[in-house]
Amino acid sequence: MKNKIFSIIFLMITLSSFSQNITLERNTHQFSIIFLSLLVLITLLVVVLIIYVNLRILIQKNNKLLVYIQSKKELTNNITNMLTSLIIKTNISDEKETLEHIQNVGVISKMLAKKLKLPQEDITNIRIYAPIHDIGKSAISNKIWNKKGKLSNIDIELIKSHVLFGQQIVSQLNLGKCAENITMYHHEKWDGTGYNKIKGKKIPIEAQIVTFADIYDALRSKRSYKDSWTRNEVINYFKLNRGIIFNPYILKKFLKIEKDINKIYINRDDVK
Ligand SMILES: [Fe+2]
Ligand SMILES: [Fe+2]
Repeated sequence: MKNKIFSIIFLMITLSSFSQNITLERNTHQFSIIFLSLLVLITLLVVVLIIYVNLRILIQKNNKLLVYIQSKKELTNNITNMLTSLIIKTNISDEKETLEHIQNVGVISKMLAKKLKLPQEDITNIRIYAPIHDIGKSAISNKIWNKKGKLSNIDIELIKSHVLFGQQIVSQLNLGKCAENITMYHHEKWDGTGYNKIKGKKIPIEAQIVTFADIYDALRSKRSYKDSWTRNEVINYFKLNRGIIFNPYILKKFLKIEKDINKIYINRDDVK
């Protein structure tokens, strides 16, 4: 009997201890779950915060880009208006002809800059500033433009100086290196016999691009002193001047997009 009582007491003590262990384990388990849940919650909060901050940065960058694009658009409009009024004032040539030329040189230059895989910022700048390549002509007296008959050597040198006047105008307007290079070097030749005698790769790429666009449009268009050239005549002229006027590498790329460039001229009555 005594033994039985001891056995029962022992059993009760063991059960009680076991029960306490289970409670302790349950408490530890609950604590782990709460701790893990908190950890997951904090991690989620941190992730949401990071996404929010990144989104804010992205939105701010986007806004800055939109402001930049807007200011560039306004600048383009101002420049085009200024150029048009300057050209009308100086009476270089008829307004429609000039506007068409300005527009075409801009479009062709952009197409070529894209084909050459230039950085986007350079393509944008070339599109904006290519149309003002001849802005320096507005600084030359009407007397020269209206002169009948043969021009003297001095007159020719004065006309050639439109590149320098152009560079000075855009420099005063703080339009940047691309605009200055286009105005100053658009009459250079690959072999170094152009206006400033700059040779080969020393000619800034933006100016070389505008040279292609300028010459192509001038030849394809009808002028008071000449008929428009056919597409084949212009292509042959470009090929004949490979390495003379034109950079052979750019010429190769230009000829690849010439079919697309030609679309500009398809519906024009004055073009062959
Ligand atoms: Fe020019
Ligand atoms: Fe031109």
